[in-house]
Amino acid sequence: MTESSSALNPKEQPRIIIDCDPGVDDAMAIITAARWADLVGITSVAGNVPLEHTTANACRIRDLLGLDIEVHAGAERPLTGAQEFATEVHGETGLGNLVLPEPTRGPDSKDAVSWLLETTKHEEGLHLVPIGPLTNIALALRADPSMISRVASITLMGGAALGIGNVTAAAEFNVYADPEAADEVFRSGAPLTMLGLNLTHQVRMGSVHGRECATYGTPVGDAMAELLEFYSVFHLAEEETEDGPVHDPCAVLAVTHPHLFRFSARPVYVEVEAIHTRGMTVVDERGPRAEGPLNCNVAYGAESETLVDLVMQAVREA
Ligand code: BDR
Ligand code: CA
Repeated sequence: MTESSSALNPKEQPRIIIDCDPGVDDAMAIITAARWADLVGITSVAGNVPLEHTTANACRIRDLLGLDIEVHAGAERPLTGAQEFATEVHGETGLGNLVLPEPTRGPDSKDAVSWLLETTKHEEGLHLVPIGPLTNIALALRADPSMISRVASITLMGGAALGIGNVTAAAEFNVYADPEAADEVFRSGAPLTMLGLNLTHQVRMGSVHGRECATYGTPVGDAMAELLEFYSVFHLAEEETEDGPVHDPCAVLAVTHPHLFRFSARPVYVEVEAIHTRGMTVVDERGPRAEGPLNCNVAYGAESETLVDLVMQAVREA
C-alpha cells in the first residue's frame, strides 16, 4: 500500500514532540515521524545508552534528515535506583554499527524539561511521544502538573499488556529503566496511550527490509539498512528469528495513523515495589469488574503490514 496520494500536507499532520533514547528503533521512529508527523522537536533521555550518546545520536539523525528542529538534552539518570542500559540490543553508542558523521550542531539546551513546559504552554494540543524511559516526562509533570491539560496525548512506547516482558519476565525496558517515573506518569491523569510489547511484537522488520532500503541509494536508505542489519543479527542470535519488533515507530504511527490500531481503555498500574515484577505494567483486563480509573488507552491490535509499509515509505521518501 502507498499513502502518497492521500498523504496529509504538513499543516494537517499531527504536531508531535519525540522524547527518546536513540537507540536503533528510536532512529527508525524519528525517520518515520519526519515523514508522517509535523515534528516540533526532540528531547533526549538516558536509556538504551548514556545521555551523552542519545543526545549526540538525536543531533546526528537531525542532520541525516535535514530537519530544522531543536534537540534538548534531558535526564542523565532515573529518578531513583540503579541505571539500566541496553547496549546488547543497540551497541555501545546506541546506533548499532551505523556510524553517522559528527553532528554539525549540538543540543539547543541541556534542559529538556523547561523546553517541554515552555513549548506546551506556547502551543496547546501537541502530542508527546516518549519512546525511552519516562524520566523527562515525570520531571516535567512534577514541575507543572497542569501540562496534562495542554497536550493532546502522551502516546508512549513502553510496558505491555498480557504480562509480557523483555528485560525481565515481567518488565519492558522503558518502564523498567525508571519505574518511579513511569508510575508518576501513569498516575498523572494525562491522556495516555500505551504501545506495549503485546502490540510491538506484532510489527516486525528484518534483513529483507534492510536489503530493500539499501537499494534506495540514499543516505537515509543506507542508514536504515545498517540499522536493520544490526537488529537482525541480534534477533537471530537471541530469538532465532530473521526479524524483530520495531517498537518505537509504533508510537509515532499510533498518533499519525490511529485508524490502523485497536485500542481499549484500561486501568494500568506500574509495579515499583516487587522483586520479580518491578517495572511491570499491570493492566486490569477484567472488563466491568476492573478496579480503578481507565487511565490508559492500551493498544492491542494493529494492521501490521500497513505499518511496516509506512515505515518503508518514510525511508524511501526521505
Ligand atoms: C524499548 O526499549 C528500548 O530498548 C527500545 O528503544 C524501545 O524503546 C523496547 O522495550
Ligand atoms: Ca527507545
